[in-house]
Order: sequence, then structure tokens, then C-alpha cells
Amino acid sequence: MYVLYTILASLVSFFILKWLKKRRYCTDLKRLDGKTALITGGSSGVGKETAVALATRGARVVIACRDAEKAEKAVREIRLRGRSLNVAHMELDLANMASVRDFCERFLQKEKRLDVLVNNAGEEEEEEEEEDVVAYPMPSVLDWTDDGFSMCFGVNHLGHFLLTNTLLPRLKECTPSRVVTLTCSNYKYQKLDFQDLNYNLLPFFTYSRSKLANIYFTQELARIGEAKGVTAYAVHPGFVQSGWTCHYSFLFRMLMQVVMWMFFVPCELGAQTVVYCAVSEAAAKHNGGYFVDCRPATLRPFARDSGVARKLWEASERLVKLV
Ligand SMILES: NC(=O)c1ccc[n+]([C@@H]2O[C@H](COP(=O)([O-])OP(=O)(O)OC[C@H]3O[C@@H](n4cnc5c(N)ncnc54)[C@H](OP(=O)(O)O)[C@@H]3O)[C@@H](O)[C@H]2O)c1
Repeated sequence: MYVLYTILASLVSFFILKWLKKRRYCTDLKRLDGKTALITGGSSGVGKETAVALATRGARVVIACRDAEKAEKAVREIRLRGRSLNVAHMELDLANMASVRDFCERFLQKEKRLDVLVNNAGEEEEEEEEEDVVAYPMPSVLDWTDDGFSMCFGVNHLGHFLLTNTLLPRLKECTPSRVVTLTCSNYKYQKLDFQDLNYNLLPFFTYSRSKLANIYFTQELARIGEAKGVTAYAVHPGFVQSGWTCHYSFLFRMLMQVVMWMFFVPCELGAQTVVYCAVSEAAAKHNGGYFVDCRPATLRPFARDSGVARKLWEASERLVKLV
């Protein structure tokens, strides 16, 4: 009898897990021949899978990464899996505004088109594991960028803010063009504090605030870009089996492997909503929208406040010295 119960329980759990992990694929088969897509952090996780998908559709794909060796390896894989030789990498460190400016200068010189910009690179707050020391997932001291911004806010929001603004003229030349920015459903757990945009205390909150900033950024960009033919979308890719745990302690990694296997989706599926927003005509009807699972999703009311979005845009312009 116990054997029967065990088999039944296993079957039920299997189908519940399968249902929980069920995700939609982008069914729009639009090709991107002759178009150029730039993907930040395209050397791993959701970014790399997005690069494969866009290369498969015929786009020239440029991945912008901070680690040249890792990027070179990723380019080889993207070429192979995307069946395209039209893939390249360029060096970019979003934690350093000088690097962002330098990258944009090189990109604008080299690349004549920019049709799709995917602001994917993401910094999780983390603690490096030191040799012979057990590292715990909750860091006591959080990192800062070279310019003195909190790592999450600096990379996830400000780096992409400066990048997008500097590349905007090229996006405007290639209309209709799109900017897809990766956010996270965790946005809902925090609000922005304009007295302390550089909040850097609890990792989870720091990350959530940066992802809320990605949503406001998308809304304001959509408003500014609409008349010029540049549209913007914010995407929560779902919880994805990417390599974000790699900097954590062995114990935490092992625990997360089990959790990820059970509840998280493969990176290829995580990339589907990004691809959907990059190509689909249906998505284009929701300029400034927030997307989950290849369809528009509803944001909490505080995250739809256009006044806050504009205020963040203006504050960001000052912080990255665009004005
Ligand atoms: N994974 C999830 O469950 C999940 C859930 C919701 C939202 N998201 C969002 O989805 C996006 C992709 O996540 P993922 O899980 O695919 O992440 P991932 O596997 O950790 O990849 C992140 C990428 O960003 C790059 N990156 C980090 N800091 C950078 C910097 N300063 N300059 C340039 N590149 C930098 C990394 O480069 P290196 O290889 O050099 O580290 C890596 O290629 C992120 O924005 C994340 O916040 C993910």
C-alpha cells in the first residue's frame, strides 16, 4: 500500500511541478534579416539564449560583456546554435560609466544599425566566496561601482540608462526600433526612496529597487521615444535556471540547485518573453508595458506612476552627468 501511495504522490508532484514550470513560447516567427540586436550580458543565462534566438532569426547580434574570454566562448556557441556567423562581442562594464561611454563610442563607429537593444545584464547582490572561508548568501557589506553607486542600482539601472540614452540617436535612425529591459517581479516588494536612490543595505531590497527602476525607466523611455518610433518594454523572464548562484557558498548553491530544478525554468524559456517583445507585432501595441510569459501583465499601481518615472529619469540624467 505504501508503495502505491508513494507512486501516486510522486505522480501528483510531477504534474504539479510540470504545471508550475509551464511557460509560453514566442510564436511570432518574424525574421530579423538585415537588423542588428545588441544584448548586454549576452555571455550567459537569459542573455545568451536571447542572442541564440535572435541570431537564428537572421539578426546581426552583438553581445556586450565585461569578460572578453567568456564572451569569445559564448560567441562561438551562439554562432553554432544560431546557425549564423553574424555574431560579435564587444567589451562593456556597466559598473563603470567611462566604460559605458567608451563602449557607445566604439559601437556607434562600428555598427551602422541598432534595431533591438536588450538591456539584460543584471547584477545580483552577492558575496564572493573566499578560500577556506564559508561564505553565506546574505552579504554584510555590499558592493559599490567605480563611480560610487550601489552595485545593483549602478549596473542594473544607471549603466543601462546611460547606454540607452547614448545609443538613442542610432535607435532613432533605425525605426521602428525597440528597447527591451529585463526586470523582475520582485519590483513589487520595494518603493524608490529619492532621498537615497543609492540604498545599499539588504541585498534583496537593493536588487528589487533596481528592478523597479527598470520598470519606471521603460515607461518614461516609451513616452519619450513613441513619437520618434522607438518603443520600450519591460520583461520579467520568470525564475530562471541561470548561473546567478555561482558566487555564493557551496551549501547555498546545492540548495538552490534543488529549488531551481523544481521550480525554475530553463534559460531558453526565460528568453522567450524577451524575444516576444523584440519581434512581435502584438507586443508593439503595448509600448511601455510590463510583460511576463509572452503577454502583457498588470503592474502594481505604484509602479505605474508616470510622475515617479519622470522624476527618476531626471535624477538619473543628473547622476550619469547627461545634463
Ligand atoms: N534568473 C532569474 O531567475 C531572473 C529572474 C528575474 C529577472 N532576472 C533578470 O534577468 C536578467 C538576466 O538574468 P540571468 O539570470 O540570465 O543572469 P546571469 O546568468 O547571472 O547573467 C547576467 C549577465 O550580466 C552580466 N553582467 C553582470 N554585471 C555586469 C557588468 N557590470 N557589466 C556587464 N555585464 C555584466 C554577466 O556577466 P559575467 O558573465 O561577466 O558575470 C552575465 O553575462 C537580469 O537582468 C536579471 O535581473 C533574472
